[in-house]
Amino acid sequence: MKSIKVHLGGERSYPIIVGRGTICSLNRHLRVSVAGDLACIVANAKVRRLWGRTLSNGLKKAGCRFYFHTIPDSELGKSWPNAEKIVNGLSGWAGKGRIFVIALGGGVTGDVAGFAASVFKRGVPLIQIPTTLLAQVDSAIGGKNGVDLKTGKNLAGTFYQPKLVLSDTDFLSTLDRRQINSGMAEVIKYGFISDSSLLNFLEVGREKIVKRSPKAMEFIVSRCSSIKARYVERDEFDTGEIRMALNFGHTFGHALEAAAGFRRYSHGEAVGWGMLCALRLSERLGILKDKNALTRLERLLRAYGLPLKARGIDAGRLLSAFGRDKKFVGGMNRVVLLEKPGRVKITRDVRLSFIKEVLKKNS
Ligand SMILES: NC(=O)c1ccc[n+]([C@@H]2O[C@H](COP(=O)([O-])OP(=O)(O)OC[C@H]3O[C@@H](n4cnc5c(N)ncnc54)[C@H](O)[C@@H]3O)[C@@H](O)[C@H]2O)c1
Ligand SMILES: [Zn+2]
Repeated sequence: MKSIKVHLGGERSYPIIVGRGTICSLNRHLRVSVAGDLACIVANAKVRRLWGRTLSNGLKKAGCRFYFHTIPDSELGKSWPNAEKIVNGLSGWAGKGRIFVIALGGGVTGDVAGFAASVFKRGVPLIQIPTTLLAQVDSAIGGKNGVDLKTGKNLAGTFYQPKLVLSDTDFLSTLDRRQINSGMAEVIKYGFISDSSLLNFLEVGREKIVKRSPKAMEFIVSRCSSIKARYVERDEFDTGEIRMALNFGHTFGHALEAAAGFRRYSHGEAVGWGMLCALRLSERLGILKDKNALTRLERLLRAYGLPLKARGIDAGRLLSAFGRDKKFVGGMNRVVLLEKPGRVKITRDVRLSFIKEVLKKNS
């Protein structure tokens, strides 16, 4: 079991506990991190069926009462009305004890539960218990939450740090292959932006990872958690350019997700493809110094079942989706490019003809 600290100064710092069966030590961590005795567990029906009992046993051991608040599965769960229902539930239960929120699930659950916890009474304690690879290596850490509006994804949200993140790698055993592959895209991203030894491990340890060997999963989740923690510590509110590095592959990836109507490609699949576009653009602009990087990325995408082409999606649609990225400032695009593994370069106002060329090559 590994414990990684997110240092945010004093009381706001929190631990990320990673490993097999960490859920069994929940009572110990609860005692240290959370002053509460009544848990609202937010989960969808599937995750509740798979892992709800394991969590509730842990809570009983800790002498905590709890209730489940069930949300719909898939991105549908991340809506304003669902956040409101959680908040109303909290309001009904709050008189019965010192309430806190546990998000048990993937990024959807973490985002909507985190948002509800942050607004009810201006904030009640939050624990993230991520159950997908993507949530364990990324979304559960860093305090960003939110819901989708009719006008777009993630348009309402707050920054609100959890008191504890508990990543039990046993949870990954029930994920389907596509879900694991999707999470692997973010893992590959961490390798490229900041950790050559992780990148090497993804290459040589493929067999172990694909088999979900407990040791391998613990290694990648803990490595990625500490990388994300370091970015969050340096740029908690995503105001500078530091945390932007985590967006490597995302500007192109979001364009693909949007152009495909958020159906055909999962987030991770789109990010994998987006990294390929970002590397090709880095090469085209003469920024990429490491000539091996492109081949390494292509091999890794293949090895982890991620697409290299945006099949069936027209380059024109990709380009217009690219132009609508909400992270662009004053209409000026900002793309995270790579000089070599471990060194990113944020570039503004890249000429659209270059973007077009890259999109064409990859569609
Ligand atoms: N807040 C952040 O910083 C941040 C970062 C990245 C992504 N996100 C958000 O995360 C969301 C995507 O997260 P996700 O990929 O985890 O998707 P998800 O939450 O929809 O989970 C994917 C699927 O896996 C199922 N599932 C979850 N745990 C399981 C388990 N252990 N076994 C079997 N099935 C399981 C879920 O029911 C769901 O159908 C998006 O809404 C995205 O915007 C947020
Ligand atoms: Zn992502």
